[in-house]
Amino acid sequence: MSTLFITGTDTGVGKTFVACALAHALRARGVRVAVMKPIETGVVGEPEDALRLRAAAEDPAPLDDICPYRLRAPLAPAVAARLEGVAIDVDRLAGLIVQRAAAADVLLVEGAGGLLVPIRGMTTFAELAARLALPVLIVGANRLGTINHCALTARVAAAAGLTVRGFVLSEPASPPCGMGKRRTARVSLASSRRRSTRESRRRVPSCAPARRPPPPGARPSARCPARARAAGSRRSRARC
Ligand SMILES: Nc1ncnc2c1ncn2[C@@H]1O[C@H](COP(=O)(O)OP(=O)(O)O)[C@@H](O)[C@H]1O
Ligand SMILES: [Mg+2]
Repeated sequence: MSTLFITGTDTGVGKTFVACALAHALRARGVRVAVMKPIETGVVGEPEDALRLRAAAEDPAPLDDICPYRLRAPLAPAVAARLEGVAIDVDRLAGLIVQRAAAADVLLVEGAGGLLVPIRGMTTFAELAARLALPVLIVGANRLGTINHCALTARVAAAAGLTVRGFVLSEPASPPCGMGKRRTARVSLASSRRRSTRESRRRVPSCAPARRPPPPGARPSARCPARARAAGSRRSRARC
C-alpha cells in the first residue's frame, strides 16, 4: 500500500482532475485505489470533488470516510470551520488516512488549495502530510507564472520535510479571476495584432465558478469585473 498527497499551487488548478486521471489509470492496471478529500469547502449539497474522486476510483467506502469534513463556506477550511462552529480534529483526520491507506493498494488524498492552507489554527495541509510522511504530487496550471508557483510550493514541501514525487501542469477550464488577461496576452503573442484584437474581444475572461449564490438583487455580471467590462457595464469595480 502507498499513499500520495495531491496538492496544488492554488485552488482550481486541476488537483481533482489529475487525481481522477491517476485513479482511472491505476484502476485500469487492476490496482485497488482508495481516495480521500479530507476537507471540502464550498459544499452546498453534495461534495463535488469527493464524488468525482470516488467515481474515478470506484471506491466503495462511505462518503463520510472519503470526505469527513464538508463545509459550506467557499473558504480555507480553518476559516469555514470557524464560521460554522465546527472543530476540525486533525488527529482524527490523520487516523482516517492511515486506516484508509491500509484498505487499498494506493490511497490518493487531495488537499484543499495549496500546502499552506490552514486546517485548524496554524496547522496546515503541509503539517498533516508531514505528520504521516506522505509523498506529494504538485499540480499547477499550465500558464504564465507557474514556474514560480510550483517552485514556491516545492520549497514549502522541502521545508516541511516532504518528498515531492513530481509535478503535473494541468489545463484548468476556467482561469481564476484576473488570469484572463494572461490568456489574452498569450493569444496576442501567437497571432497577428489584428486577429488577437478580434480574439480577445471574443474570449471573455471569466471567474472560477461561483459556489455561493449572489446576494439578493445583485446582477450576475457584477460578480466578475472582466465580464462586467465586456458587457459595457459601469459596475465593473465589484469584487469577484
Ligand atoms: N487537464 C485538464 N483538461 C481539461 N480540464 C481540466 C484539466 N485540468 C483541470 N480541468 C478542469 O478545470 C477545472 C478545475 O479543475 P479541478 O481539478 O477542479 O481543480 P482543483 O481540484 O485544483 O480545484 C475543472 O472544471 C476541471 O475539470
Ligand atoms: Mg479539487
